[in-house]
Amino acid sequence: MDSKIILVTGATNGLGREEAKALLAQGHTVILHGRNREKTLTVQKELVAETGNPNTDVLIADLESLAEVKAMAQEFTAKYDRLDVLVNNAGNQYGTRWAGTAEGHEKTMAVNLFAPVLLSLLLIDSLKKSPRARIVTVSSASHAQGGKPFIDDIELKDNYSFRRAYGLSKLYVIWAMRSLRKHLSEQGIETIDVNTTHPGIALTNLGGSEKRPWYMTVIYTVGRPLAPLLMRTAAQGAAPTIYAATSPEVEGLSDRYYGPKGLEQVSERHYTPANEAAVWNYCMKVVDPYLR
Ligand SMILES: NC(=O)c1ccc[n+]([C@@H]2O[C@H](COP(=O)([O-])OP(=O)(O)OC[C@H]3O[C@@H](n4cnc5c(N)ncnc54)[C@H](OP(=O)(O)O)[C@@H]3O)[C@@H](O)[C@H]2O)c1
Repeated sequence: MDSKIILVTGATNGLGREEAKALLAQGHTVILHGRNREKTLTVQKELVAETGNPNTDVLIADLESLAEVKAMAQEFTAKYDRLDVLVNNAGNQYGTRWAGTAEGHEKTMAVNLFAPVLLSLLLIDSLKKSPRARIVTVSSASHAQGGKPFIDDIELKDNYSFRRAYGLSKLYVIWAMRSLRKHLSEQGIETIDVNTTHPGIALTNLGGSEKRPWYMTVIYTVGRPLAPLLMRTAAQGAAPTIYAATSPEVEGLSDRYYGPKGLEQVSERHYTPANEAAVWNYCMKVVDPYLR
């Protein structure tokens, strides 16, 4: 396989670290994104030692900040003349109460939805320079568990709950990536494949850096010793994303959702063209100031 230039967000832990490791082992150049420089440089050293592939670089941005997403994209484009694969892996879970970023956005939506949409848009020119590029975004089976979308309250100012925010952010990012593919087609760009994935339930640090709701703390504390029996490993959870990122079988395919069972079905329970368009339009309104 040709050596590709691949950017993996959230490469410092869990699934992203495994995705980066597997992609380095395949011989690609992998740019590791993290939010903490020291931690990201440590992971970089570990991955080079584990894979024997020195072709790595790091980019630092807190994805709660769209300004930092923009700066990271600018740093990438200044250094690299093309991007072959963007893996929007980073994601997070927040607490029981609505919390806003410094830029005023609900944190779950900022990290899980607005950041991957903005990063993808800012890197389109780099992806266009690849003969055949891919955007792979890690969603979740929880996309079916966020309940009814609040289309007039995407950032859940009046309707927040932990479960709703995470589930809906993962549903909206699937819709947004499908809209992005349509948006690319409208511009005559057919060389960028856009797909989403989910890992099943994998043992990682997801949400561990934030103040979890009490019931999640109980589940993790009581369930942790049993986790190896009940959950997939991070390496197993990373497999669908690695497949979507580089398998020749995916070339030329878009709007697919890959999981542990291979090609899987997105829950279309709350899908309507109007809902999907509303989410895309909202994302575009949020990211617009950072696209100029
Ligand atoms: N684990 C599961 O069972 C599961 C199930 C469904 C979907 N997912 C999805 O899989 C993806 C990877 O999650 P994971 O399970 O591997 O969790 P994880 O172990 O917590 O890793 C998440 C990664 O995202 C980074 N990250 C989180 N918030 C960030 C922010 N504000 N700015 C920049 N980076 C940030 C983390 O950085 P730090 O290292 O600095 O914390 C870490 O590198 C996420 O999109 C998650 O929603 C996971």
